[in-house]
Amino acid sequence: MNTKISIIGAGYVGTSLGVLISSKYNVTLYDLDKHKVDLINKKQSHLEEQDINDWLTKKKLSISATTNPKEALKGAHLYIICTPTNFDSKTNSFNTESVTESIKKILKINKKAKILIKSTIPIGYTQQIIKKTKHKAIAFSPEFLREGSSLQDNLYPARIIISDNHMGLANLFAKIMQNLILVKKPEIIFMAPSEAETVKLFSNTYLAMRVSFFNELDNFALSRDLNPKNLIDGISSDPRIGKQYNNPSFGFGGYCLPKDLKQLNSNFGDIPHSLIASIDKSNKARAEFIASDILAKKVKKIGFYRLAMKKGSDNFRASSVLMLMKAILKRSNKCQIFLFEPSISKTPLKNVILIHDFNEFQKKSELIICNREDKKISKKKMYTRDIYNRDL
Ligand SMILES: NC(=O)c1ccc[n+]([C@@H]2O[C@H](COP(=O)([O-])OP(=O)(O)OC[C@H]3O[C@@H](n4cnc5c(N)ncnc54)[C@H](O)[C@@H]3O)[C@@H](O)[C@H]2O)c1
Repeated sequence: MNTKISIIGAGYVGTSLGVLISSKYNVTLYDLDKHKVDLINKKQSHLEEQDINDWLTKKKLSISATTNPKEALKGAHLYIICTPTNFDSKTNSFNTESVTESIKKILKINKKAKILIKSTIPIGYTQQIIKKTKHKAIAFSPEFLREGSSLQDNLYPARIIISDNHMGLANLFAKIMQNLILVKKPEIIFMAPSEAETVKLFSNTYLAMRVSFFNELDNFALSRDLNPKNLIDGISSDPRIGKQYNNPSFGFGGYCLPKDLKQLNSNFGDIPHSLIASIDKSNKARAEFIASDILAKKVKKIGFYRLAMKKGSDNFRASSVLMLMKAILKRSNKCQIFLFEPSISKTPLKNVILIHDFNEFQKKSELIICNREDKKISKKKMYTRDIYNRDL
């Protein structure tokens, strides 16, 4: 319990890890966003995730948050960086400024700091920053949580990967996680930093590819008058293929899959990679296909139910629902578009009317488009490709 852990960045990854780790260690979260910091200090969650809320309100946690770097970064046994790494299309790479800046801030306060990067970074970043700062105790551990089930994902990790360039640091993090997680014999894999960075990008790229594969199958089934569920049941029953992550949708989106795919494409450079280079095209083609399918129904008043792609999620960064909305607006100026998204106060697109009252929204819409089915929506009006009534 006397071990102090500082987490930099109190977003999805930082807050989820912070809540979990603070059940057995002292955690201080550092963020620039005062609103998030204040909520965490009041034991309230800024994420729409029931488990995080329950743990914050019901469990005895040793957690605090601050916007003051000195307070947050002084004397910690381990520093975990969870700041954003958005893709920058100008440089064709992640913007790693917040990670680099955090490392510099930590080293100013603690020259002997053990620093673990959880943010997703371009291949080669860990080695480059070690060289640049001349500080050896910097390691990388890819994060695999999913928004909406982040705490469960961290309690039951399929594996934990840690770079092996500083074994003192890698073993410290492995020990902390083993003490917290509920998997009896967790698979902990050590590998070179560039390999750990590559695993993260290929894992998310595989998931994006799989979403696109089943979406293209759904395009095919709809075009040839075949029942997509029969096709997917038949294909997925082969254990080599598996029954998970096969539920059609409007496309992949969210914070990580689109940007990690772009970063991997960029890291490929001139190495041949036609499969990986075409995943983004497939995702865009899916939105165009669904837009045509909807417009073929000749409805004039189209309602979009939520921007988030998963149930129980409040996150719609790079949402495929938004991409579909844009595809419809581009093709038709005759339709009126309504949006029901209670978590926002301003419409995300010109010509889209935001309605906060669900009954009014349902009444006004002839067709309601939802990426994931919701019992609230009248079956007669609903348009979805959610065959299995589950997220993925
Ligand atoms: N969201 C996911 O499902 C997920 C999963 C795996 C990996 N990741 C990776 O983890 C990283 C963080 O993702 P996230 O979803 O938690 O992001 P997020 O946007 O939810 O949170 C990032 C937080 O960092 C704070 N921040 C930004 N710059 C800062 C700075 N210089 N110092 C301190 N705080 C700062 C922001 O205010 C924000 O609260 C990214 O690299 C992402 O790719 C995310």
